[in-house]
Parts: sequence; C-alpha cells; structure tokens
Amino acid sequence: MSDTATQAPVLTIDGPGGAGKGTISRLVAERLGWHLLDSGALYRLTAQAAAKHAVALDDEAGLARLAASLDVEFLVADGEPQVMLEGEDVTRAIRTEQAGDRASQVAALNPVREALLTRQSDFAVAPGLVADGRDMGTVVFPGAPLKIFLTASAEERARRRHLQLQESGVNASLSSLLKEIQARDARDMQRSVAPLKPADDAITLDTTRLTIPEVVDRLTQLLAQRGIGASPDDP
Ligand code: DC
Repeated sequence: MSDTATQAPVLTIDGPGGAGKGTISRLVAERLGWHLLDSGALYRLTAQAAAKHAVALDDEAGLARLAASLDVEFLVADGEPQVMLEGEDVTRAIRTEQAGDRASQVAALNPVREALLTRQSDFAVAPGLVADGRDMGTVVFPGAPLKIFLTASAEERARRRHLQLQESGVNASLSSLLKEIQARDARDMQRSVAPLKPADDAITLDTTRLTIPEVVDRLTQLLAQRGIGASPDDP
C-alpha cells in the first residue's frame, strides 16, 4: 500500500462507471494545473495487451506479468488525449463496451491490482494529482486530503452513455446499456479485492441532477476549503 499524500496533494474521485468521473477529473485537473491519473485506462490497457499477446483472461500470473510491464504512454495530440500501447494508438480501441467488459474481468484479479499499484502511486507528483477510479481513496491513496465518491442513478448513467455513443455515431439500445451498467456495477461492488465502495472519509456527490460545471465548481470549492489547490487563474 502506498501513501503519497505527503509528496503532493491528491484528489481522489471514485465511483461507478458513467457517473462523470472521467470528464470531471479532466476538467478539475485542467483548472488546477494538476496531473491526471485515469486508472481505469490501466485495466483497459492490461486487457488490451492480453488480447494482443493471446493471454487468457483467467491466467492470473500471465496477466499480472503483462500489467507490471505495460509499455504505455499517455499523450496529448492536437489537444486530445491519446493512449499508446507498445507504440500503437489504442485510444479508441480501449473505449468500446467490449473493452470495458474485459477490463472489468481483469480488474477483479488481485495479482493484476497489485502489479498496477506502484505505477499508480508514481503519478502523485507536484503540483498535485486528480486520481480517477474505483479504489483511489480506499487503496491507492488512502491519505489523500480530499476523497470524492461520485454517483448518479443507473438510468441516468445509461442515458449519458447512450447520448455519448449517439454523438460518436454508434447505435446502441438504451435498455441493453442499462443492463450492462448494472452488471458491471454488481461485479465491481461484489468482488473480493478492492470492491467499489466509498472510503470512510469520502464525500459522496450524486450528480444525477447536477451539470458538469456545477460539479467542477463544487470540487474546487471543497479543495479551497481545505487550503489546497488554488487555481493558477485565481486572483
Ligand atoms: O473507469 P473505467 O470504465 O475505464 O474502468 C474500467 C474497468 O476497470 C471497470 O470495470 C472498473 C475497473 N477499475 C477498477 O477496478 N479500479 C480502478 N481504480 C479503475 C477501474
């Protein structure tokens, strides 16, 4: 277990898929000029590497070896985030529903989680880190000065995902998205290792009826109340 809160302030944002963690984390990190850890991408990349190297999703030792030696780069190209695996652009490939499902299976394996721990805690460098995931506040950064658990109803999360897919020209049925979201929630919450749950000292924020800017403002206010994370743009 690693606790890097003394090196750089960490804001942990955990919660179920589709609660807005990705967008909110990116916007808060941009506003503060902090680093961003998309920990879900590491599980997605491990599953992607497994497919590439024909490692079975139940081969715990093989998957842990892949996770420990992942050759990944998080880049920004033309203002857009880009993810490279072994020099190959996998930005879109790791975002499909199927990739998410495979990532969820890989994430249920303790040796894989252990193998990714150090890589995740290494992200906590000055001036600060916004860490997005499921166990950021409970396992990876237990000493973080502000922990948020972001939720929204399953119906609202399915609706958002549906909209997102429609915007990118992908047809999907709302009811099957809702079923997938509920199945993934159940697997993430019921697994024995690092299950999805709020840290004891986390603040739960339900975003069902909040806009993205409202959530970003709320989080930067909470940080400011703790005397951390003054924005570079603040007077
Ligand atoms: O946030 P995401 O959809 O990209 O995450 C992909 C999968 O990885 C999801 O099933 C939950 C899992 N995950 C996890 O177990 N722990 C994390 N810190 C982040 C993601």
